[in-house]
Amino acid sequence: MMRARFYVVWRAHWASLFLLATMLFSLAGCSSGPNVSSMLSRLDNPPEKLSAWGLFKGEMKEHNLNTSVLPYNIVTPLFSDYALKYRAVWMPSGTSAEADDKGVFSFPTGTLLLKTFAYPNPDGSRRLVETRLLVKSSEGWHAFPYVWNAEQSDARLALVGDTTEVSWTHSNGTKLAFTYVVPNSNECKNCHEIEKKLRPLGPKASQLNNDYAYNDGTENQLTRWIKAGYLKDDGKAKSITSFPNWQDPNSGTVEQRARAYLDANCAHCHQRSAPASNSALYLDAATTDPNDLGVCKPPVAAGKGAGDLKYAIVPGKPEQSILLHRMLSDESEIRMPELGRVVGHQEGIALIRTWIQQMKGSCDSPEP
Ligand code: HEC
Ligand code: HEC
Repeated sequence: MMRARFYVVWRAHWASLFLLATMLFSLAGCSSGPNVSSMLSRLDNPPEKLSAWGLFKGEMKEHNLNTSVLPYNIVTPLFSDYALKYRAVWMPSGTSAEADDKGVFSFPTGTLLLKTFAYPNPDGSRRLVETRLLVKSSEGWHAFPYVWNAEQSDARLALVGDTTEVSWTHSNGTKLAFTYVVPNSNECKNCHEIEKKLRPLGPKASQLNNDYAYNDGTENQLTRWIKAGYLKDDGKAKSITSFPNWQDPNSGTVEQRARAYLDANCAHCHQRSAPASNSALYLDAATTDPNDLGVCKPPVAAGKGAGDLKYAIVPGKPEQSILLHRMLSDESEIRMPELGRVVGHQEGIALIRTWIQQMKGSCDSPEP
């Protein structure tokens, strides 16, 4: 009898302790949603810790996105030294992005875009390396790189960049080991800037009009963005056809997949008004003129990068094409992309080689 009563009191005691703990927890803000909005006034003095943004729930190392932080995937991504990437978007409630006629999004003030880079550990577990944020204030986009600690309990602001050793076995059996480079906050603009303004690159209709396996089921990403209130439902975005998946032969011809690959991996520099526009090589998906694309186009600056070759692309002759020569090189003055990679992308190179191989025509004008 005594024992039973003691037990009841004991239980009640624990229950109230639990209640108190939960209250303290929510007071401390630990269970609330993202606090991006409160950061907007202090973007010149961003928090030292990634956790302060409130983008994750539970243990940081699990990388579980907080309520209303929506994961997304782009169907043909940028190659970054084989890093695994996780992307997500958040917008203040009641605001949404809007697509233009080409499916390019304009985002409301307060939008946050996140991209985390990770590598497999030799034991098969996952190591988070860096998380990059793009945050939009009323003045425009701001870029913040965070580097994860060894314990994976948080990431710290690393405006000066960082390097870290990575090594693992690639799916084709090759052992890869190299020094991975986290760009500094000045380097973001080398890829993200157009007309001197930072802008996001991945989230556009052509990259998102396809399915994503959400926790609660698979759904078209644009549909999900509209449901979440993150995209204006005016039919513009949905009218844009999705890029093929560059590595899935069922999703497009070699040419379609090669063009999507070049758009994602090269066009942020190689398009009009972008950093490499002086090369007059335009690799964005909208380019139709073969010469703009590099076919029989002599290099603007010959020399080391061109490797004594005459044209960016020689139809049917990948080994004579400067474009492939520069993708194959790992040397800093030759390699393309010039930034954002240390190792070559074997699978991407194979696709571009096949594309050039299949091209018909020749660059030599007939003898008079
Ligand atoms: C080598 C070029 C390059 C550099 C340097 C670079 N980025 Fe990016 N970034 C891209 C491309 C291309 C995408 C879109 C494709 C993808 O996500 O695979 C992207 C995507 C992102 C995204 C997801 C939203 C979006 O724009 O698609 C964020 C956030 C981001 N970058 C932040 C940064 C920050 C912060 C820096 C500097 C520390 C940086 N990036 C440096 C090329 C670059
Ligand atoms: C971070 C910006 C950047 C990215 C990304 C980039 N490039 Fe370049 N590229 C340049 C710059 C700058 C030049 C001009 C200077 C030079 O030739 O090195 C250039 C020049 C070239 C040239 C010589 C053009 C000519 O006709 O003179 C080729 C070919 C080329 N890039 C191919 C590529 C390919 C293919 C990709 C994608 C796989 C790519 N680049 C991605 C910046 C970039």
